Amino acid sequence: MLDPSSFIKESIEEIRNIIGKKKAVIALSGGVDSSVASVLVSKAIGENLTAVFVDHGLLRQGEAEYVQKTFGNRLNLRFVDASQVFIGKLRGVEDPEEKRKIIGEKFIRVFERVAEEVGAEFLVQGTIAPDWIESHGDIKSHHNLALPHGMVLELVEPIRELYKDEVRIIGSKLGLPDEIVNRQPYPGPGLAVRIAGQLTLNKIEICRKANAIVEDEVQKKGLDKTLWQYFAVLTDTKVTGVKGDIRDYGYLVVIRMVESIDAMTAHVPELPWDLIKTISQRITAEIPEVTHVSLSLSDKPPSTIEFA
Ligand code: XMP
Repeated sequence: MLDPSSFIKESIEEIRNIIGKKKAVIALSGGVDSSVASVLVSKAIGENLTAVFVDHGLLRQGEAEYVQKTFGNRLNLRFVDASQVFIGKLRGVEDPEEKRKIIGEKFIRVFERVAEEVGAEFLVQGTIAPDWIESHGDIKSHHNLALPHGMVLELVEPIRELYKDEVRIIGSKLGLPDEIVNRQPYPGPGLAVRIAGQLTLNKIEICRKANAIVEDEVQKKGLDKTLWQYFAVLTDTKVTGVKGDIRDYGYLVVIRMVESIDAMTAHVPELPWDLIKTISQRITAEIPEVTHVSLSLSDKPPSTIEFA
């Protein structure tokens, strides 16, 4: 059974022993894992931790502003807008695993640069138990940052033994706002894992808007507190539709909402029909490129939570 106070106290001691007076960097995504890891490590080493927020061009709507507002005063925060480089590298790439690899490697390059600038010797990561359990199981090349050979930064993973529910408990204990603590997980590669096929600026924008609508409606219903994840996926399937009396041909968007304890398994719960209908109507009304919305009904296993 996790005792939050002793966990925090022991972690801080351990982090100080490992990092000492040296400098560290962490990728802060705004998700609960990296937020908790950032705050924990900054409690241990203060300004010697630089929290790096990378805009890879695949963020959800309003994310950069939200992170700035929430962490600007709490952490030694560094913003890097690398969106053009990421999108450029991903151009023409279809395979989901290749997308993940490109994003992971590019991330490392960005970190190496910032780490060099600040003189960091350690890379802190918000890896949690399901991340490495699944990585070892080779289900997906995962999670956060793939470390290529020759990596010079030493890795520190202060919450790697914790499951998500425990991370949330530690986050609250550290004084993080409920909004962060209860936030649904958002994958490191961002919208890249929610867009089938090649990534274009237009597809990214469609997917971003659809995700914002799902989040907005789920929050209005208060279901953000019980659902594990709720999002939209932009498929590469085109579907015939009708606008007025004119034939249309647009994208199929899939809504996915799951309950889970730790992401190792997940199930699709019964959902309020009015919620589903509102989301569907809003997506087709507000995103002209979408002609059809469907609902994912698959549990994990056999599916994974994300589509890619
Ligand atoms: P899957 O799709 O494998 O996802 O069932 C399990 C959980 O992990 C999240 N996820 C990721 N998180 N980097 C992350 O930080 C990633 O590359 C990544 N891929 C999936 C997913 O959202 C779910 O919560």
